[in-house]
Amino acid sequence: MKLIKNLLIASAVSSLLISSSFANSNKLVKQGEKIFLTKKFGNCISCHAINGQELPNPGSFGPKLQYLSAWPAQALYDKIYDPYTTNPISAMPAFGKNGWLNDNEIKALVAYLQTIN
Ligand code: HEC
Repeated sequence: MKLIKNLLIASAVSSLLISSSFANSNKLVKQGEKIFLTKKFGNCISCHAINGQELPNPGSFGPKLQYLSAWPAQALYDKIYDPYTTNPISAMPAFGKNGWLNDNEIKALVAYLQTIN
């Protein structure tokens, strides 16, 4: 009986843990989306259409972002940190290297971009 009770407690605790880590990652995705869309943070939307959203200005500099869920997190991180490492003539600024976005902000962006199909 005691064993069953302990098992029940253990499974209740682990489902709590699972749902809270899911809530956390959801929060990260939301934060990343906000950074992507907000002028004073990433302002990525000024150059990239994403998820059906784009600025009215048709002369965007960057490609429409899609299929990013297939990218490894590290590749997305590196792209945002310093695009010149993979593309020396990139027109995209190095958000991490320039100190515009910190490590946590870039990780939030990566979480958001990984939801883009
Ligand atoms: C000044 C315009 C500009 C801004 C602002 C900008 N980008 Fe870019 N981005 C580009 C260009 C141009 C490319 C294509 C060249 C390259 O891959 O380096 C690109 C490529 C990318 C790619 C690779 C896409 C692919 O399919 O290969 C990702 C991911 C990306 N940008 C994310 C971001 C994020 C996140 C932000 C905001 C922090 C951002 N960009 C801000 C211009 C921009």
